[in-house]
Amino acid sequence: MSFRTIEWRNDKVIMIDQTRLPSEEIYNEYDDFQGVAEAIKGMIIRGAPAIGVAAAMGVALGARDIIADTHESFFKQLDNVCETLARTRPTAVNLFWAINRMKRVAEAHRDKTINSIRALLKAEAISIEHEDLQICRAIGSHGAPLIREGSTVLTHCNAGGLATAGYGTALGVIRAAHDAGKKIKVFADETRPWLQGARLTAWELMKDNIPVTLISDNMAGWFMSRGEIDCVVVGADRIAANGDTANKIGTYSVAVLAKENRIPFYVAAPISTLDLTLATGDEIPIEERPAHEVTHIRGVPIAPEGVPVRNPAFDVTPAKYITAIITERGFVRGEYGTGLKALVGK
Ligand code: MRU
Repeated sequence: MSFRTIEWRNDKVIMIDQTRLPSEEIYNEYDDFQGVAEAIKGMIIRGAPAIGVAAAMGVALGARDIIADTHESFFKQLDNVCETLARTRPTAVNLFWAINRMKRVAEAHRDKTINSIRALLKAEAISIEHEDLQICRAIGSHGAPLIREGSTVLTHCNAGGLATAGYGTALGVIRAAHDAGKKIKVFADETRPWLQGARLTAWELMKDNIPVTLISDNMAGWFMSRGEIDCVVVGADRIAANGDTANKIGTYSVAVLAKENRIPFYVAAPISTLDLTLATGDEIPIEERPAHEVTHIRGVPIAPEGVPVRNPAFDVTPAKYITAIITERGFVRGEYGTGLKALVGK
């Protein structure tokens, strides 16, 4: 891949600005945790695994800047850093997973000097980023065999290199199939209202010379009914114990259409996206975002001023519509209750 989504460089966090793509490829520098929190909230960085990496790096920046004479004061301020980062976006569980992992590292080394704890937190954040890339590659290699030679694959939103530390989850499966020499094509849903499909998925697949065709969201059913789509692969923001999956708004509609048209519907996600503390998808918190994302496109109004708007950023696809959930430890097909638990225990 010819871009970096996020990296730790010279004690700063560098992120490609996803609000400016595809027209401008700009990298922003963040020097404090408040900046990282704003970047997550403002979708400079987005996608479940990527916001997990960003949050971990935010914790490391916050820990570095704490002024404290005692461990008690250091840990109290560290809690405040973690809370600020945790309040940015509610749905993707990777955010909380990463923050908790950072907290556990600090707690486990409470007996060390404050400076050593800061160093350990920085090392942990960097390893979360490196691991994520390896995890995406493993998801790709487990998922690629499910994609048949010559397939046209529909994807929704962006679960690509831009949504992870690189390579992607859903796009990781697509990249791995393509890299294995399969002649596949991708249909990318534009993904209103934020246009992750049009702006990000189309951009990164074109950069990698993977054939991609952009469609608007309401076209997917038509192409399925014409036999022009062979399977669907999407990412996930949170997967409940029974396999119900929260992902970008519109995913549920695509899954229902896939079932009606007898097309396999795959979810690709790391184990860190599983939230086995939730029995079903009904318990997943769904973020509501500002009205202007619906009433405006790139700052231009497309609706009468003052019209009431709803803007849930995610929906939940019931497990019954999901053919398989692909992770870095293999995939589960049906029987998600036992299958996902077994994967976590592996
Ligand atoms: O609102 P976003 O852009 O953060 O939503 C992203 C998605 O819904 C992705 O499909 C999901 O996070 C998986 S990313 C590998």
